[in-house]
Amino acid sequence: MASKGGNENAAPAQRITVPDLRARKGAGPPLVMVTAYDFTMARLVDEAGVDAILVGDSLGMVVQGLANTLPVTLEEVCYHGRAVARAQPRAHLIGDMPFMSYQVSPEQAVESAGKLIKDGSFESIKLEGGAEFGEHIARIVGAGIPVMGHLGLQPQRVHALGGFKVQGRGRDAAAKIISDARALERAGVYAIVLEAIPPDVAEQATRTVGVPSIGIGAGPKCDGQVLVCVDLLGMSRGHAPKFAKRYVELGDAIVDGVRRYAEEVRSGAFPGPEHAFQPNDAAPGIVDAARILSLRR
Ligand code: KIV
Repeated sequence: MASKGGNENAAPAQRITVPDLRARKGAGPPLVMVTAYDFTMARLVDEAGVDAILVGDSLGMVVQGLANTLPVTLEEVCYHGRAVARAQPRAHLIGDMPFMSYQVSPEQAVESAGKLIKDGSFESIKLEGGAEFGEHIARIVGAGIPVMGHLGLQPQRVHALGGFKVQGRGRDAAAKIISDARALERAGVYAIVLEAIPPDVAEQATRTVGVPSIGIGAGPKCDGQVLVCVDLLGMSRGHAPKFAKRYVELGDAIVDGVRRYAEEVRSGAFPGPEHAFQPNDAAPGIVDAARILSLRR
């Protein structure tokens, strides 16, 4: 396995903390956040230099193939959090609070947030919702757990909204997002995700609050941006949201690579002698084998 960042002897990079992220409000380049759900992807996105990694409940759709995020459990977010944390990212690590892990009461919210920190190895948590969750957020923050808010399209409300629809259109809807942003700030969030809202509403919300806004489908005037990793990497087959720019076509590259592997297996071209361990191999082959075995353990 390749070494992380290429230089084994370099001093460990300083991890990005909540105060670091907060301090970027109105200062420095926009924050960069991306989702990841496993060790390999976490290493790669961290090597690319993102500021924050979110283990979103989008894992239900991306990893599990579900139609929405509602069935995702706290245990599943913790499982993926531990895998991502093993990559020891420099990026700040955020865990999503799944549907019905916090909505019931402030007590339930504190307990679930605590589980994400203790069992999921997260450094902060994110939850969807506005003023109605002010007390829940304040209690979590009071317990010493940093909270990121999430306004606009809240996928956990998919049934109430009648689908994954753009929010904040019209004066009243826009005003509700702005007042919710204020309520979240009062409750103590350190940042707010703004999903699928018109750019002017996102800009107004961003100007209204003193904590960074992180947009997804919310235009360029937020303090940062977040995308789902498989969307930006061109790995999601079928429908990808309009706002998700594809920077590479990894999906096509994967299909092509696996197709060529299959062809070579079927034709007998793979494995060649260079991919097999010979009885008289010199030391490097033995070292390789030992390394492979140790990695499998
Ligand atoms: O679950 C998720 O991936 C998210 C992002 C889209 C912000 O909430």
